[in-house]
Amino acid sequence: MAEIRIRNTDERIQGEENVRAFLESQEVLYEHWNPSKLREELQEKFVLSDEEKQEVLNTFDEEIRDLAARRGYRTWDVITLSEATPNLEELLAKFENVHTHTEDEVRAITAGKGIFIIKGSDDVGYFDVELTAGDVISVPENKPHFFTLMENKQIVAVRLFIEPEGWIAHPHNDPNFQK
Ligand SMILES: [Fe+2]
Repeated sequence: MAEIRIRNTDERIQGEENVRAFLESQEVLYEHWNPSKLREELQEKFVLSDEEKQEVLNTFDEEIRDLAARRGYRTWDVITLSEATPNLEELLAKFENVHTHTEDEVRAITAGKGIFIIKGSDDVGYFDVELTAGDVISVPENKPHFFTLMENKQIVAVRLFIEPEGWIAHPHNDPNFQK
């Protein structure tokens, strides 16, 4: 279940309703899918064949289509990241820069863990959203953020898009951001 850490105060926000309410106040959509719908073997597998990726999409087809219909997403796919990913460290180094997009960045975690670091309102500042399997997040367009893995370095997520071009990252150079 998702957990929030506000970087300036180290305050933590836990519990589905509290997390949802906080994220809503920051204009970030948060939902939860049932991760145990996925075949048990796939709940702990981070290198997937095309057939297995399709199985992930099929398992959550209803949830994906429901979210897509509500928010206008038109395409979706599955990404995997783990120590088996070629050039993982390079990829992570590239990810770990604050940026924005011209459309929502949507991730539904189906296995593993990850963190979104998001620039909140002026009174909150940057906060971390730690996501585990079942957590679904949509960071709105033009909201500065980046994504990285947690210490286990393993994740499988469904991504949803309006237009593939909307996903291009625009750097957000913020002198106030500290890693
Ligand atoms: Fe992004």
